[in-house]
Amino acid sequence: MNTFTYRYPVIVYFGEGAAAKNLPAELARVGRNVMLAYGGGSIKRNGVYDELMNLLKAAGKTVTEFSGIMSNPTYAKVQEGARLARKNDIDFILAVGGGSVIDCCKVISAQAKTQEDLWDVETVLHGSPTGFIPIGAVVTAFGTGAEMNNGAVITNEAKRVKGPLWGAFYDFAILDPAYTMTMPMSQVISGSFDALSHCMETYMGSPRETNLSDEISEACQRSIIRNLRATLRNPQDIKARSELVWAAAMGENGMLKIGKVTDFQAHMLEHQLGAYTDCNHGQGLAVIHPVLFRHMLPEAAPQFARLAVDVWGVDPAGKTELELAGAFIDALAAFIREAGLPTTFAQMGIPADTAFKAIADTTVLTAGCCKKFTRDELLAVLLECR
Ligand code: NZQ
Ligand code: ZN
Repeated sequence: MNTFTYRYPVIVYFGEGAAAKNLPAELARVGRNVMLAYGGGSIKRNGVYDELMNLLKAAGKTVTEFSGIMSNPTYAKVQEGARLARKNDIDFILAVGGGSVIDCCKVISAQAKTQEDLWDVETVLHGSPTGFIPIGAVVTAFGTGAEMNNGAVITNEAKRVKGPLWGAFYDFAILDPAYTMTMPMSQVISGSFDALSHCMETYMGSPRETNLSDEISEACQRSIIRNLRATLRNPQDIKARSELVWAAAMGENGMLKIGKVTDFQAHMLEHQLGAYTDCNHGQGLAVIHPVLFRHMLPEAAPQFARLAVDVWGVDPAGKTELELAGAFIDALAAFIREAGLPTTFAQMGIPADTAFKAIADTTVLTAGCCKKFTRDELLAVLLECR
């Protein structure tokens, strides 16, 4: 276990009715001018908008709406939100949606407080934002765990990069599984796979010896697999959905990373794929993971072998470590097919002549990965995914 400091700033209100129960007290703590931020309008169709608007009005707030936050949010959208927040003297931002809305608002919170260009501040000058508008999250699509960390994934269209920007931590996050019941099934599945990927990517980092974080990760992975299967059998299973919502939050709230260096090479590759294709995040990961993992044999064999036995229930009797490692990748690939996730870029509508070399050449090479990938190897992975 590496040395670590642990502090957790986000209050989580979990369960059915969590907004009605907890939002009034939270709203009483913040100023009058509230920005209600959301995506393309799903919250208007499923009643979440009306419920939250009533709570905001009852709390006497002046509401400024900021809508149209797209999947894979852009830096231009961040700037639009920051301008609106400044113009309306916003005291508090309520972000309502999935990872895209939640990420976008983390950075709006910081950008609204400075005239400097945050992309330059963070990626060129290696500085960090210092001032923030307070923010709260209402999760309507689970998977990313974005509500429990202060990292945002933003697409800078001008630079053709989809990359991390640090923003604000949410003061609180409302996780009501019932709010997620109207998610399209394809998003339930891709979100679940994203959560599984976060657990695996953290698990692949060093140290190689088992620590408590890895054992909690194994439990999260088993929970995601079991509850996604239950959800595939019965999409209305609220108990299974509740487990998935919390497992996804656990995947990215830093708990599994305690005492570890993380990997996240699959994520880095998928993010750059997103910069060039605007693809669905969880689906991109589902295509990339098995291919990338096969390229990580034999370097990652100890971790893969352990996942085979402790997560996927492979019988270790008579098998070498390498055979078990292969069995893990086979089990993962079979699960991806079972869930109906895509197994090739073609199935995602990504053309075979996409600029894969440019994607490989601009992908971040992660230091924590068991295997140090070269750009040529990443290109080979991308080409195999076609
Ligand atoms: O925009 P609306 O109309 O709301 O529709 C959304 C969107 O089309 C819909 N949706 C959300 N809640 C719904 C619903 N539809 C019906 N009923 C509901 N209750 O779902 C669609 C997808 O939403 P989006 O927020 O884009 O999905 P997701 O949560 O997967 O977020 C993806 C973004 O998060 C980033 C990804 O890269 C991507 O940009 N990530 C953020 C991370 C973080 N900050 O920790 C970690 C992840 O690895 C990831 O990179
Ligand atoms: Zn992810």
